[in-house]
Amino acid sequence: MDRGRGVARRPKLAARYRVWIATIRAAIGELVAATVRVRKQGKGTFVSLHGQQRNIYQFFHVNRRNATMRIDDTLKATIGELTRPGKGILAADESQPTITKRFKALGIESTEETRRNYRSLLFTAQGAEKYLSGVILFEETLGQNSDDGTALPEVLTRRGILAGIKVDKGTTPLPNAPGDLITQGLDGLTERLQAYKTHGVRFAKWREVYGITDRNPTALGIKANAEVLARYAAICQQEGIVPIVEPEVLIDGDHSIERCHEVSGAVLHAVFDALHRHRVILEGMVLKPNMVLPGNKSLSKAGPEEVATATLDVLRRNVPAAVPTINFLSGGQGPEDATANLNAMNAMYPRAPWVLSFSYARALQDPAMRAWGGRAENVPAAQKIFCHRVRMNALARDGKWTPEMERAAPVAT
Ligand code: 13P
Repeated sequence: MDRGRGVARRPKLAARYRVWIATIRAAIGELVAATVRVRKQGKGTFVSLHGQQRNIYQFFHVNRRNATMRIDDTLKATIGELTRPGKGILAADESQPTITKRFKALGIESTEETRRNYRSLLFTAQGAEKYLSGVILFEETLGQNSDDGTALPEVLTRRGILAGIKVDKGTTPLPNAPGDLITQGLDGLTERLQAYKTHGVRFAKWREVYGITDRNPTALGIKANAEVLARYAAICQQEGIVPIVEPEVLIDGDHSIERCHEVSGAVLHAVFDALHRHRVILEGMVLKPNMVLPGNKSLSKAGPEEVATATLDVLRRNVPAAVPTINFLSGGQGPEDATANLNAMNAMYPRAPWVLSFSYARALQDPAMRAWGGRAENVPAAQKIFCHRVRMNALARDGKWTPEMERAAPVAT
């Protein structure tokens, strides 16, 4: 085994990195815990770096006085690509039961082949690549090919779109928190991520859900879900994969926009507390939250300006400016509502510290899926409709969308 090279004694390290000596002591304790060999010599300590002259910051997070955290180059490059101007993310990661439900509602049979046909339709739609920086896939899609035999993730990367993957394994009731759910899938996540990387996957997604009732989410639910999201994000970053952190406060119910505001704020506060505790690099993640809306059974409706004001209020109070991008989920809003609301945020808050973009599934796909209806002859029309929705949201991402633009929309025949 390589004995590595030593670095300076503790006082020297503290001076060199401008940190307190106690920080160096604690950091060295962490190195020992992480089984990095650390040798003591005389009064000082030095660290075995296994032959590589690597900066001490690469082993642990030292909050250097008056300095910023170093962002891993891989994460930084992925974030750079995901946040390219005028683009957003398509979520095409519906699990088998979810896509089957969506197909069934339109009378489409759900088989491996129909799912392949449908996702090929989306990924080969000419022109959509101008407005998409990434697509989130479901695991099954990773192993599928387009009609010409190209692997579907490769179809995306050839068009300059990054491939991402949903890595959570769905929800289960959270014990001792009646009504709350918790998401599963942390076991073996590292190994799965390593396998996904061989397919060219650069980012991942994990969703926690929070239903609103008079009692839910509970304090326990909020804390437990945040902890899981942070653990997932830390594991992804360790593998050089950008985590999309998705805490979704559900639209279901008759609650008011104020109640959604209250719950969304509490959820985001807990999520960022947990991300901080787990030392997740905020600069290397994507936040995918819900917009702040009244429940879908509420009698009061909120227009784009109200939604934008309430959503930005919650975000400003709870999301550090170090987070580079916020890509909203659509959460059951109508496709045009999701566009109008995103547009209002960008029009009203052009100086928000984050990119405000989209990572929609239903709001981008629903009209196209309906137009396709499972029939090969409808593919060109469905692709046009899909491209139109993607373009509308790309405009909304810059506050440049107007309702009139929808009138020029292609219609299915
Ligand atoms: P919707 O946009 O349909 O809410 O889906 C986003 C998503 O990725 C859910 O996890």
